[in-house]
Amino acid sequence: MRIAIAGVGYVGLVTGVCLAELGHEITCVDLQKDRVNLLNSGRSPIYEPGLEPLLTKNISCGRLFFTTNPEKAYKHAEIIFITVGTPAKEDGTADLDQVTAAADTIASQITNDVIICTKSTVPVGTNEKIKQMIDKEKNGPFKTTVISNPEFLREGSAIFDFFHGDRIIIGSDNPEASATIEKLYAPIHIPVIKTDIRSAEMIKYASNAFLATKISFINEIAAICEKLDANIEEVAIGIGSDKRIGNHFLRAGIGYGGSCFPKDTKALAQLAGNVQHPFELLDAVINVNNRQQSIPVKKAKEIIPSLAGKKVSVLGLAFKPGTDDIRESPSLKIIKELQQEKAIVTAYDPIAISTMQKELGNHFTYTNDILEALWDSELAIIATDWEQIKKFPLYLYSEYMKNPVIIDGRNCYSMDEVKKYPIHYVSIGRPSHMPTIVEVNQSLLL
Ligand code: UDX
Repeated sequence: MRIAIAGVGYVGLVTGVCLAELGHEITCVDLQKDRVNLLNSGRSPIYEPGLEPLLTKNISCGRLFFTTNPEKAYKHAEIIFITVGTPAKEDGTADLDQVTAAADTIASQITNDVIICTKSTVPVGTNEKIKQMIDKEKNGPFKTTVISNPEFLREGSAIFDFFHGDRIIIGSDNPEASATIEKLYAPIHIPVIKTDIRSAEMIKYASNAFLATKISFINEIAAICEKLDANIEEVAIGIGSDKRIGNHFLRAGIGYGGSCFPKDTKALAQLAGNVQHPFELLDAVINVNNRQQSIPVKKAKEIIPSLAGKKVSVLGLAFKPGTDDIRESPSLKIIKELQQEKAIVTAYDPIAISTMQKELGNHFTYTNDILEALWDSELAIIATDWEQIKKFPLYLYSEYMKNPVIIDGRNCYSMDEVKKYPIHYVSIGRPSHMPTIVEVNQSLLL
């Protein structure tokens, strides 16, 4: 089928590449010339495991094109996916400017009947507006059908999720068009759930809000565990073994970040408020998450009251492992708080340094070497559970740091392992470990 993709951000790029892999002819449109040129040369502007080989393969097979010219993409297209961003506005509502602009351009370029499939996360009722807008502005009696087809791609495993997701949601009021979209996905054998358009739009927000709720819930339980000397990891296994609860998204830590959960939870809270239903539970989820991100510096100050002039290592900048995305990453808040305390920050990340440099500049030191980050440091804060960090031997903290204090915001190390070393170790929802005076003296002798 001839398919166009409006917007080559994360979702658009992964969708375009994967649909090309299924044998379709895909033309992706984006306004950013540099991005389009880079993609046409077979290179990806984002880090996503497995993406670049599929990108180059499908470009060379002649199935995948990138252009800044909407006419090339939309003229004669049978299906157009809208995958532009819907960032949060100041008040938390979704900014639909890019969606509106894409709909305008589509209306001016279509030359035949077309199915418009929205993957961008949009407030309930938006797809109906998109249809009205396109029908009003199109240049001919072409039949347009608008379908809500939300994405559930996790960064870092987006290619896997495209081919092995749990479900495909097709929200439509046109059975024929929804059958066409179902056929498009048929080769990947993922269960399809057909709904009305508004329910499909709600499914996306409700899914992300529910997952965020699980995270804030376990973080609340973790805070209580700390006060009562229980261990959140054992608690999470115990509750997650109940199939009704499930063991996913029960990892306690310094909160969720990324391009979706923070934005979508705020947008859903606004959406609820707009229909006079204050979403009290979701408000609490958001508040708990904001609090979690401030835990590392708060806990550090309980141990080292003044961080001024002290070297502090921040291990991990990405909002989660497997991505160079730092949007809403807890590390942003941690670094800003450390700078307010006048600490001397050295930040480690295996791949997210350049994205962080664009966001926070070069006011502190970056390194992709954990040892260099820890050298002579008085405090290490673990912000991302990268494999490189999880595998990094604990004894090296005591060898390289001036005075080893670790705040592990992602519970990367087992408590049994931690107890073997003369380090002051504080994590989330687990008992802290403090070296005994004998251990400290022995380490000074080494
Ligand atoms: C999410 C959704 O999972 C995906 O379906 C949606 O379409 C886009 O948003 P993503 O943002 O890539 O995907 O990351 P995800 O793996 O869901 O993690 C989000 C955040 O939650 C990360 O910061 C992660 O560290 C945190 N998290 C996750 C926890 O703190 N604890 C957990 O148990 C799980």
